[in-house]
Amino acid sequence: MAKEHNSSTIFSFRYGCYFLFALSFVSSISFMYWSRCNTQDSIFNPIHQSPSLDLLSYPSAWNHLSFSPNPPPKLLKLAVFVKKWPQKNQAGGLERHALTLHLALAKRGHEVHIFTTSPSNSSFPKYPYPNLRFHLSPPTAAGYLDQARAWEQFRSQNSSQKPFDMTHTESVGLLYTRARNLAHVAVSWHGIAYETIHSDVVQELIRSPEEARSSALTDRVLRLVEEVKFFPSYAHHVATSDHTGDVLKRIYMLPEERVHVILNGVDENVFKLDENRGRDFRRKFGVPESATLVIGMAGRLVKDKGHPIMFEALNQIFMEDRNLRTKVVLLVAGDGPWGFRYRSLGTNMIVLGPLEQTQLAGFYNALDIFANPTLRSQGLDHTLLEAMLSGKPLLATKFASIMESVIVSPDLGYSFAPTVASLKEALYRVLRDGKGVLGKKGKAARQRAQKLFTATKMAAAYERLFLCISKRKTDTDYCKYPHPSD
Ligand SMILES: *[C@@H]1O[C@H](CO)[C@@H](O)[C@H](O)[C@H]1NC(C)=O
Ligand SMILES: *[C@@H]1O[C@H](CO)[C@@H](O)[C@H](O)[C@H]1NC(C)=O
Repeated sequence: MAKEHNSSTIFSFRYGCYFLFALSFVSSISFMYWSRCNTQDSIFNPIHQSPSLDLLSYPSAWNHLSFSPNPPPKLLKLAVFVKKWPQKNQAGGLERHALTLHLALAKRGHEVHIFTTSPSNSSFPKYPYPNLRFHLSPPTAAGYLDQARAWEQFRSQNSSQKPFDMTHTESVGLLYTRARNLAHVAVSWHGIAYETIHSDVVQELIRSPEEARSSALTDRVLRLVEEVKFFPSYAHHVATSDHTGDVLKRIYMLPEERVHVILNGVDENVFKLDENRGRDFRRKFGVPESATLVIGMAGRLVKDKGHPIMFEALNQIFMEDRNLRTKVVLLVAGDGPWGFRYRSLGTNMIVLGPLEQTQLAGFYNALDIFANPTLRSQGLDHTLLEAMLSGKPLLATKFASIMESVIVSPDLGYSFAPTVASLKEALYRVLRDGKGVLGKKGKAARQRAQKLFTATKMAAAYERLFLCISKRKTDTDYCKYPHPSD
């Protein structure tokens, strides 16, 4: 009896196991499918619209949300502090951000007052918006914005006419010593000490033995500690990459509801797909018809943009396979010491010098792939976004800001560790994949960029943030998403 009971237990136990096995098999398949759908979806749409969310504690980039394209019923009076206003094409990332964003906000009807340094010569760009006003002051000896002067200009504008609804500072344009008195202030970070430490490590690793070690390595940690101490003085923070958002919350220990991620955007009316323009550009600059791969790079041609490793990687590739010397074309926009060196690699290395914005749009269209071997991990590089909007796949350094916000999937491009060996391997992968695969990745890159990286999207997100932070009791709640106007 006991035996029989036993065997039936074993029997049912065994069937139970079969059943469990079958169940787990089916569920693992369905899990695989579920997670596939989910990752597929998350490339383009990480949140499923929930009924209403509180924007200030929204953890992802606001670029994923869709705000109304129409100007808001409420217009703001906005003060902007930026160390330098861009002149022509010589602008760095922070200045370009200031220009793109605030022109867009002025265009939407907000009253924008820019507090910045006067240029060394008397010419200052003119814009067709009477509601965009500049308050200039001579830079300090070190080239910074004169805080006392700018603050005085701000106060007199604030008290003589309508007070400001909101203040925006590009990095430390307005120092924390004054910003800490403001409740309605947001600072955008385009490179913080924690990220810079990563750049310092990378630069130290590729340093040649005859160069001296930089003292930046030790100073930077002290700078980081300083930043962790003074950052809380700013009421609100905008991280321009997902990674920076994380660092501000975890390392700088800022409260979650004071850190907002708004990824950079670039002008989608300038940077767009235009095949004819690409063809014209190739013809004009003598790109041979026989080229099997056209790689482009843009920006200052200096060491910390990674040109030493790109030069060496190409040099080795051309030595290993002489045919590639004629098949691969490099188009380099920008100037700097590395321009001449690329020329020494052969006649297919075409160095274009600095390009105007419209020429730059043609340049991107002429490429099969855009490469950015930067060794600086700070901020979110605009050239990557411009190339994506132009429908080009990317080849870029494996920095957290790039991997988490830009090349979030191999469908959009290639990445490499900042070493010659890793870059070479990635270049060989690009060569093996060829134009067909690159074209597909370029299409996916463009789709993502159109959704996330347009100037329109960036401006709408900042506008909403400013409306939310500056709201008065009588306003409808701009901190809720969706708002009736979305
Ligand atoms: C003024 O200086 C800026 C750089 O500081 C330069 O880009 C611009 O071309 C100069 N303008 C004139 C008219 O010289
Ligand atoms: C700006 O003006 C408003 C209204 O007069 C005032 O409450 C506020 O303190 C002023 N802000 C600064 C920084 O002076």
